[in-house]
Amino acid sequence: MSDSLVCVSDYERQAQRLLPKSVFDYYFSGADEQQTLRDNVAAFARWCLYPRVLRDVSSVDMSTTVLGQRVSMPICVAATAMQRMAHPDGETATARACLSCDTGMMLSSWATSTIEQVAEAAPGAVRWMQLYIYKDRALTQSLVRRAEEAGYKGIFVTVDTPYLGRRRDDVRNRFKLPSHLSKAFLLRIPRGELRQLEIQKSITAPPYISALLPPFPSAVTQHELHLNPPGDLRSAPQIKAQQRQQGAIEHELWCLDKTPAQMANFETPDLAFSSKEGYGEDSGLAVYVTQAIDATVKWDDIAWLKKMTFLPVVVKGVLTAEDAKEALKYGVDGILVSNHGARQLDGVPATAVEGKVDVFMDGGVRKGTDVLKALALGAKAVFVGRPVLWGLACEGDKGVSNVLEILREELHRALALTGCRSLKEVNRSLLRRSELISR
Ligand code: FNR
Repeated sequence: MSDSLVCVSDYERQAQRLLPKSVFDYYFSGADEQQTLRDNVAAFARWCLYPRVLRDVSSVDMSTTVLGQRVSMPICVAATAMQRMAHPDGETATARACLSCDTGMMLSSWATSTIEQVAEAAPGAVRWMQLYIYKDRALTQSLVRRAEEAGYKGIFVTVDTPYLGRRRDDVRNRFKLPSHLSKAFLLRIPRGELRQLEIQKSITAPPYISALLPPFPSAVTQHELHLNPPGDLRSAPQIKAQQRQQGAIEHELWCLDKTPAQMANFETPDLAFSSKEGYGEDSGLAVYVTQAIDATVKWDDIAWLKKMTFLPVVVKGVLTAEDAKEALKYGVDGILVSNHGARQLDGVPATAVEGKVDVFMDGGVRKGTDVLKALALGAKAVFVGRPVLWGLACEGDKGVSNVLEILREELHRALALTGCRSLKEVNRSLLRRSELISR
């Protein structure tokens, strides 16, 4: 598939074809009129690059550090919730991809894999924990402790979500997690090996399959295939493949992964966003946030967090110089300029802003030139959210790696074509506001 997917927009279009509508809508949506969502991408086009030439750009060093951790490029993965709706491997696939691309991953508090599972999937990878501050502070503290113990290297505390932004499609879809992250999997068993597999009950299939065992499911026909949600498009091409190849393979088994869908870091159904009672006539996640997340959070809570953990703390979701200065007073270790992918307050500025302090940014980064512009405006590194979900939906960890490699290659080219041999040479002089492109 990846041969035909050569840029982030290709992955986005393909993911839209593959994902159930309510999942794509949840991943894609911005708040309210989605003005900021459009502007997050458009804002980059309001800057033009002014390249320097004749500088021997045969070698370009893109490595940098984020919170003291070396990464091979200034492009890291932002926290996005509930990744196992995109692919059964979810966050563990993303972690593996980050390890193979030698870059860092921020894990959402609302992940569908646990803090520990993600650490195990990619030991040695640079991982940070995104934190929501819950009303229950002991619970909040336990998330931080678990991240510390599992080798995460920093806490990104999200400060822009005392309530959830109103994402209209999620309201229309009454968004909630599917009851099961059930997916159909096709196992191709080579001739003669089925018996052995039945006995051993360990197969060279990904771990989520083993949840089915024992007993190893008997061969089922296509008619018995359950899809959740019904008619999941992802499976359609596989069904066809099965029909075409029937002559060649002796046993083909469709298996169901019955892993319950939940935010994996929590024990009670209420906190795991899997309550049977449902979440009313609204976006289920909006109801969840009102119930569980603390709307009273203030700067003192950042002081509490700083005191509670030895990990560096970054505030995620700062948009004004005033708040950036305030954050520094509270001794934060970094600032992530972010409007939460335009999913919180609609009408806030796009995040391609000029920073007076050392900052990271996210929001609307879709191309290597976007990364270069963000760096030229003062960001130390950027984080990408949706592009990773599109890669995950299309091809699991391979898709995430491909998306990250596409961005790496594009940034490399952009640096070379502007005459920069390392990130140190990127500065504001590369950019001018485009007069020609109107808002
Ligand atoms: C997010 N984001 C987010 N942020 C956060 O702090 N905790 C979270 O759980 C999530 N979950 C989440 C889910 C989805 C589907 C999206 C799209 C975004 C925001 C995320 O970390 C980041 O700020 C934006 O995604 C960056 O914008 P782009 O790259 O998606 O345009």
